[in-house]
Amino acid sequence: MIRLYIKDLKPGDILLKQNFAVKEIVKKLSKNNTHYYTLTLSDKTGQVDAKIWADYFKDVDLENIKIGSVISVTGKVDSFRDENQVMIEKSILVEDFDPADYVTTSEYDIDEIYAKILDTVNSLEDAEIKKLILELLDLPEIKSKFLKTPAAMMIHHNYVGGLVVHVYEILTLAKASMELYPEANFSELAFGAIFHDIGKLEELDAGSLALNMTKEGKLLGHVVQGLLLLERCIPSSFDKNKKLRLIHMVASHNGKKEIGAPVTPSTIEAFLLSEIDNLSFKIGTFRMHLQKGEIDENGFSTYSPYLGASLVDPKTY
Ligand SMILES: [Fe+2]
Ligand SMILES: [Fe+2]
Repeated sequence: MIRLYIKDLKPGDILLKQNFAVKEIVKKLSKNNTHYYTLTLSDKTGQVDAKIWADYFKDVDLENIKIGSVISVTGKVDSFRDENQVMIEKSILVEDFDPADYVTTSEYDIDEIYAKILDTVNSLEDAEIKKLILELLDLPEIKSKFLKTPAAMMIHHNYVGGLVVHVYEILTLAKASMELYPEANFSELAFGAIFHDIGKLEELDAGSLALNMTKEGKLLGHVVQGLLLLERCIPSSFDKNKKLRLIHMVASHNGKKEIGAPVTPSTIEAFLLSEIDNLSFKIGTFRMHLQKGEIDENGFSTYSPYLGASLVDPKTY
């Protein structure tokens, strides 16, 4: 049997016992009052929407379709609003699988990138901030997850280790910006780069195959979770004013109140962090969108709702 991966699925494909991880399952009620399920299935190549209509409930092992489980699917691929959709006709739980088939990894060497981040930390001028960063990174609750967590669930850097890659990009751009904005304090900016998204460690469940949001993530969000974590972990002996500036970067990094920032940037480091974070997010989203490989005859991708445009792949210039 040929293994079909999500990125290769086409409308009309017949699926015979193909394995996917369950990322989401929601029970819904149709207009004519019958129940059905909508699902998001995933594998290492991407994700796809799926449906189970009531006619097939008897052949589908519904009990065992849980977020994070792997199921073997028989059915077909349809097209719905220009996107593939898997119609599940039969499914059973798969217990013996290779986790590497279901989590997106990156081409980066995450350990190597982390070592480069530590090199930068070790070169920081402010000894108090340097000590604080190293202590925080060494806390069991941070250390155990920092290298595995993605930077986002769907949009950008959404792979194992994505957060570390995102932090490295910000740190590198922040370093470069110091030549132009020497009045900014690089030690403080480096802290912001490394810890602005630390709440993602608790927002996203990187331990699950499905990379889902935790309950805390849904109810609080990563900005608030990051603030709580830092409030808990920064020692009380740390300089009060400096701590306030560090925490301000985390609180304001989304830049605008409309998109979830409790406050907007007030310090030069917070402005730099917020803009650089946005750049890393945008280019990450750009790359990920093009990876889907759907390019029309004029060289444009499908519309990206996150970027508000159809994109042109630089490889097609
Ligand atoms: Fe963020
Ligand atoms: Fe970020």
